[in-house]
Amino acid sequence: MTLILGLESSCDDSAVALVGSDRRIVAQAVVGQTSAHQPFGGVVPEIAARAHVEILPDLIRRVLDDAKLSVHDVDAVAATAGPGLIGGVMVALLAGKGVALAAGKPLIAVNHLEGHALSPRLADPDLEFPYLLLLVSGGHCQLLEVRGVGDYRRLATTIDDAAGEAFDKAAKLLGLPYPGGPAIEELAKSGDANAVPLPRPLVGSGEPHFSFAGLKSAVQRAIAAGEHAHEDIAASFQQAVVDCLVDRTAVALGTTDAPALVVAGGVAANQAIRGALAALAEREQRRFSVPPAWLCTDNAAMIAWAGAERFAAGLTDPLDAPARARWPLDARAETVRGAGVKA
Ligand code: KG4
Ligand code: ZN
Repeated sequence: MTLILGLESSCDDSAVALVGSDRRIVAQAVVGQTSAHQPFGGVVPEIAARAHVEILPDLIRRVLDDAKLSVHDVDAVAATAGPGLIGGVMVALLAGKGVALAAGKPLIAVNHLEGHALSPRLADPDLEFPYLLLLVSGGHCQLLEVRGVGDYRRLATTIDDAAGEAFDKAAKLLGLPYPGGPAIEELAKSGDANAVPLPRPLVGSGEPHFSFAGLKSAVQRAIAAGEHAHEDIAASFQQAVVDCLVDRTAVALGTTDAPALVVAGGVAANQAIRGALAALAEREQRRFSVPPAWLCTDNAAMIAWAGAERFAAGLTDPLDAPARARWPLDARAETVRGAGVKA
């Protein structure tokens, strides 16, 4: 058994975890900054970076104390090295380097997206490679064939907004607090998902890419028209996102023999999305796996686990490992440009 200390600070959550190669989560803590960013309706990078500087060191201390361990008891230190808000990324990476240097332990520079991508294997010991992964977070919306540790083939991405970004923007339009996903999911419970006709961008297209910008504009028009209750708009919006995710994932499933469908990332915390994808997997006769909701949103257990998987594969990093604002999981994937400009 190896023990990995994981550190995460790439967005607005400061997180630390101690995870064993036997999947035991020895101790962990996440401190969010929602209230600091809420007045601005989104994450302010400078505020986030400064908060990580204040929170993270104490969190490392707390997690080690909870486990009654010291840095000398861990086998390696895994820190998110990107992609994300670069000021924040630098905090956990430099903290990780400091701990690794002081304790004489190897450093593992983890791609945050690999943390999300491998998180289902922390929760589900029977999940083997390869699997089709729908990675849906605030910054990303991708379909990836996960073939092994460090071996990813991107099948699709968004041509404009990420799914979580769409939830956050729609929530802002509806006057709901940031982050928008949980707020919309809650409001949608009392709404009618068929009440508001909204578009399903790219549904039916042969390539499994995503687009959400047009859906956001349609929500904006529906609110301006003033004919629908906000809970009906929220429920109809959530249903439109579900339909897009299911249709696009179904197209991707048609191109891979991977025996399992897996969903991860913050948006995978959404119950409607989990249910619809589970049903798709059953129809397509694939195994379905999704981590518990707390492991879908940003946390350090997934970073420690990705570290454990990389450590087992003999992959460690030098102390000059760079912090990266952009870091695609599949470096060979081409830039996809549509109505929007995102890769
Ligand atoms: O993975 P994550 O915690 O951070 C990133 O790496 O981006 O994902 C955050 C995103 C936010 O856009 C948030 O609104 C969305 O995940 N999210 C949800 C839910 N919980 C979080 N979206 C829909 N339904 C939810 N329950
Ligand atoms: Zn994330």
